[in-house]
Amino acid sequence: MLNTIDTLLTEEQLRTRLTSLALQIAPHLKADPVLVGLFKGAFVFTADLVRELSRLGVQPTLDFMVLSSYGKTMESSGQVTVLLECRENLKNRQVLLIDDILDSGHTLDFASRHLTSKGAKEVLTCVLLDKPERRKIAFQADFVGFTIPNLFVVGFGIDYAERFRELPYIGTIPHD
Ligand code: IMP
Ligand code: MG
Repeated sequence: MLNTIDTLLTEEQLRTRLTSLALQIAPHLKADPVLVGLFKGAFVFTADLVRELSRLGVQPTLDFMVLSSYGKTMESSGQVTVLLECRENLKNRQVLLIDDILDSGHTLDFASRHLTSKGAKEVLTCVLLDKPERRKIAFQADFVGFTIPNLFVVGFGIDYAERFRELPYIGTIPHD
């Protein structure tokens, strides 16, 4: 199965971009920000990004949320629900919402509204990968690691049917 994966972004490319992405984000973060990562896909990206931000003096609170996922399909249903709530008090706080991929836009649109409804003063959004061709609703992330074409990707925390999250690089697998 592994030999059907082609490398799209190498470990080196990911490392270099994460360093420059943190440099881009840090000036926008105010005192006491909350970073909210979306499990499971953003776990590797969030872990690497917080350490890059830390080098720049950012001292955030960290939390995670779990939203409903694709299951075993490659398409978003458009219906997003909260499976595990973020527990940090967001009242009047600045939030940086972190996800792996911006695809149809449903997940981040839902998540940013949700965090605003919990009292966040500002919700900035950051994604490792953006697939603008796939957008179903208008949504732009504030910070994007890489803009990629319409490919199904895995690795660096991102799965296909719960497989391949452990890969240290981003690879592509053929569509169904
Ligand atoms: P959206 O709601 O359609 O924008 O989907 C975003 C979510 O879909 C991401 O958080 C990913 O978990 C998942 N997703 C989108 N594209 C891919 C992909 O190429 N591989 C694996 N998961 C994906
Ligand atoms: Mg996801």
